Amino acid sequence: MASLSRIKSDLSELHEQHEKISSIIDSLLNDSVEGAPIENLTGQLKELVNLLHVHFSTENTLMAQSDFPNMTVHMQEHKRIFEEINSQYQQIKRGEKVLSPILADHFRYLEDVHIASVDKELVEFFREKLCL
Ligand SMILES: [Fe+2]
Ligand SMILES: [Fe+2]
Repeated sequence: MASLSRIKSDLSELHEQHEKISSIIDSLLNDSVEGAPIENLTGQLKELVNLLHVHFSTENTLMAQSDFPNMTVHMQEHKRIFEEINSQYQQIKRGEKVLSPILADHFRYLEDVHIASVDKELVEFFREKLCL
């Protein structure tokens, strides 16, 4: 089991990462609607992919160290989301495609379902442990 102080600092880090992920996604969705140059979108997408890599590792480690009940399903979802967004990013980087409605759907899923609901369950589980 991770120490309580470690859980507390991880939760605050996760919160900051969620805010940052949402802000990049909102900006990407706005820019793509407004037809911003693809170079702008690629830079933001790269930042998002790097941040997701760090963020999912932080959540996975915290779950693994604390016997989180839905850990396997949650980790599988991280893997699926990362692979989907990263594979689209790699194609955009190679110039094979532009930001598509499919990628926008992945973003909305990440923000409106994963962070808003699946991660909420995780955060509440750990807040209970900390009696917050
Ligand atoms: Fe998360
Ligand atoms: Fe998550």
